[in-house]
Amino acid sequence: MQKIAVLISGRGSNMLSLAARCREERWPARIVAVISNRPGAAGLEAATGLGLPAESIDHKAFAERADFDAALAERLEALEVDWIVLAGFMRVLGEAFVARFEGRIVNIHPSLLPSFPGLHTHRRALEAGVRLHGATVHLVTSSLDLGPIVAQAAVPVLDGDDPDGLAERVLAVEHRLYPMALRWLVEGRIIVEGQRCRLRDPREGEMQWFVASPPA
Ligand code: GRF
Repeated sequence: MQKIAVLISGRGSNMLSLAARCREERWPARIVAVISNRPGAAGLEAATGLGLPAESIDHKAFAERADFDAALAERLEALEVDWIVLAGFMRVLGEAFVARFEGRIVNIHPSLLPSFPGLHTHRRALEAGVRLHGATVHLVTSSLDLGPIVAQAAVPVLDGDDPDGLAERVLAVEHRLYPMALRWLVEGRIIVEGQRCRLRDPREGEMQWFVASPPA
């Protein structure tokens, strides 16, 4: 059984969708820890409610970013995790941390990367006038939001969208996309070739992308 740690900073809705699908679909993995860098994160309580071990490592308790990273790395090593799953985790992890767990750190980003890395993706997508926005699951490398792409889902931008409305529709696809992609990873079904990821044996109908249908 592989071990997953989910790192969060906020409400943890992606963490909850991963936990639900991991259990329902009997992945060869289980979530051994939900860790927040913010002690007050709502997701911690939600995790506890599901019976998941939840804890916080407050980044504010550390003078330097590298010290926080080291404490987090130590905890993850003590837990012997196979996968470090970032789900709304709002801290950039330094190069040393990433190198230590290379290939085992996964993130979901609310845009179609490489468009709109960084923050405020929904507002920036609206300002840029793109008609397709979305979400990306990728492996984490030391270049922010630019690691190999495991899967993407596109969300149409509608006339009259504002950042909040668009964010809500992107979040709905994130809750489908992240479990799909993480399951493939824990099942060893993703082959990484440089910047590209592909499914080892695509089963019928399985693709590394989908498009959310626009609301009727
Ligand atoms: C998601 O949109 C995720 O892509 C982004 O932060 C948000 C986290 O939401 N990085 P939640 O905490 O999973 O509800």
